[in-house]
Amino acid sequence: MSTNSGDGIESVLNETRTFPPPAEFVEQANIKSEEEYQQMWQRAKDDPEGFWGEMAENLDWFQKYDKVMEGDMPDTKWFTGGKINVSYNCLDRHLDSWRKNKAAIIWEGEPGDTRVLRYQDLHREVCKFANVLKKLGVETGDRVTIYMPMVPELAIAMLACSRIGATHSIIFGGFSADAIADRNNDAEAKIVITADGSWRRGKELPLKKAVDDSLEKSSTVKKVVVVQRTGGDVEMVPDRDYWWHELMQDISADCEATELDSEHPLFILYTSGSTGKPKGVLHTTAGYLLGTQMTSKWVFDLKEDDTYWCTADIGWVTGHSYIIYGPLANGATTVMYEGAPNWPNEGRFWEIVEKYSVNIFYTAPTAIRAFIKWGDQWPNQYDLSSLRLLGTVGEPINPEAWMWYHKTIGQERCPIVDTWWQTETGAIMMSPLPGVTATKPGSCTFPLPGVVPDIVTKDGESLPKGSGGLLVMRQSWPSMLRTLYGDHERFLETYFSEIEGCYFAGDGARTDEDGYYWIMGRVDDVINVSGHRLSTMEVESALVSHPKVAEAAVVGFPHELKGEGICCFVSLTEGEGDDAMEKELIQHVRQQIGAIATPDKIQFSPTLPKTRSGKIMRRLLRDIAAGRETSGDTTTLEDASVLESLRKKDE
Ligand code: WT7
Repeated sequence: MSTNSGDGIESVLNETRTFPPPAEFVEQANIKSEEEYQQMWQRAKDDPEGFWGEMAENLDWFQKYDKVMEGDMPDTKWFTGGKINVSYNCLDRHLDSWRKNKAAIIWEGEPGDTRVLRYQDLHREVCKFANVLKKLGVETGDRVTIYMPMVPELAIAMLACSRIGATHSIIFGGFSADAIADRNNDAEAKIVITADGSWRRGKELPLKKAVDDSLEKSSTVKKVVVVQRTGGDVEMVPDRDYWWHELMQDISADCEATELDSEHPLFILYTSGSTGKPKGVLHTTAGYLLGTQMTSKWVFDLKEDDTYWCTADIGWVTGHSYIIYGPLANGATTVMYEGAPNWPNEGRFWEIVEKYSVNIFYTAPTAIRAFIKWGDQWPNQYDLSSLRLLGTVGEPINPEAWMWYHKTIGQERCPIVDTWWQTETGAIMMSPLPGVTATKPGSCTFPLPGVVPDIVTKDGESLPKGSGGLLVMRQSWPSMLRTLYGDHERFLETYFSEIEGCYFAGDGARTDEDGYYWIMGRVDDVINVSGHRLSTMEVESALVSHPKVAEAAVVGFPHELKGEGICCFVSLTEGEGDDAMEKELIQHVRQQIGAIATPDKIQFSPTLPKTRSGKIMRRLLRDIAAGRETSGDTTTLEDASVLESLRKKDE
């Protein structure tokens, strides 16, 4: 087994190291053998109704479904005729057993305050807040926007919505007022739940202020509930704004979970596409719950006494599925941390692992690259011996980061699950099974049961092992998105028009000679910044909305920490552009979209490289942004001198 770490990119293309699961792990694993996995996978492929019907016995139903699945992809309906509730499955069903006193959420605030909510505590808070929602006029089917820090009230709010069948739309705290307004309007949200502010590296981010600004542009919102977190000054508008703690004072803790149809809309989560406005990915009740519950059990090998920690923010799908719904459906103990990994110092994550004896740790490659940069002295100060399993998600992990994670954090003892999935897929699709799969650094290995991927040409022809192509899914799965909210046409167009009869993920991928899957990144105009998708289109429209910008082209470039950085080529209506202008444009993008879209580089140019038909040649801009020689054909360029002038500026 080579552990040479000096071979950079080479090893990505030609990774031969393999790591079989340690014998002690296999012995206790939920899925123990290759045969068991193969059998499950084949059965789910050949007889999805039989397989998923059996799996659905792991859920608590108010009324059993008539049919497991109805209709072909993309419009498959799952568990039709069934009545079920997600909040009931995450809470109530655990209360009949000793689990009522088990920690559901162990929460750690950034300043160091902590809270533990046992299952019965969480259940009581959720019932109370569900009654608050009802009192504020929220009904089954209404949309509720949540814009909150990582505090327990966020989990309570989500579960309260699902308890009464209100559809939540969570917006990550790094989005701006304008972005909130767009999402409120698209979802026609009736109320917003927020906090005064959010702690970030000891500073307060004013969340309520952003909500106030957004409401000038979103007219459907009638009420705002505000959690007091930082104690910062906020303006409370009478008859519109209410303090969480006041509403929760005299409210009943009795609230039966509403019996909802299997296909009742559970949540909307906005994500970037290659064109136009953000897409409201819609997930429904039973299929999503089943997907997150089963994958949590298979991939994270959850056991009754595990302490499980996923470091994502609940504002992204990872937090929805693997901090809240999946773990709680399994009756697990989930850790939730409010703040930054480097506050008050770079050892904070490892301090938390030691403090709570975390057994399962799930994070993103972008975080791992930051840990590497900060140095081994941070993890080395803490006792990490409780860890038994590690995971990654969000982008391809470079083999050297994988090796560091394996050695320095996993101490060569813990299997690593590299989980490939998307906001749209709801749950993990491809991943090693930690007690079965021999892992290869950088590969998400194999599909989980119920997932039937293929790699195809643009014409939909299956490619042989070893060739790269488009990643598609040939079979429907329970936690698949059902539509893009309010735009079913766009749903069909985006995911099902590219390759006949298949779901197209937007990623390129290849398999190797052993059939392992390797994700090669996005093939559309979407860039992956710190494990999150951003549309280059959206950043471009933000730029051109500035009165001094005539034209803009945005591309990704390799970035040491973020995976991809944002590079903007801008031509102004007048003048050359200077540092002040650069600052102004960066600020403008942050205001339009939010801090997550902050450009890393802005390069001014009087013209942009275009084809004779006027299409911006992004391929060339990508080369320039990455500081590479121009690859491929430039003969279609309308004005060849543009390239030269852009390159000079970059020096
Ligand atoms: C895109 C989905 C799924 C939660 C976080 C991101 C990339 C995700 C992996 C992985 C290689 C990955 C893909 C995918 N991606 N996980 N393990 N290996 N790439 O959710 O914002 O919906 O982004 O993230 O490109 O399409 P998202």
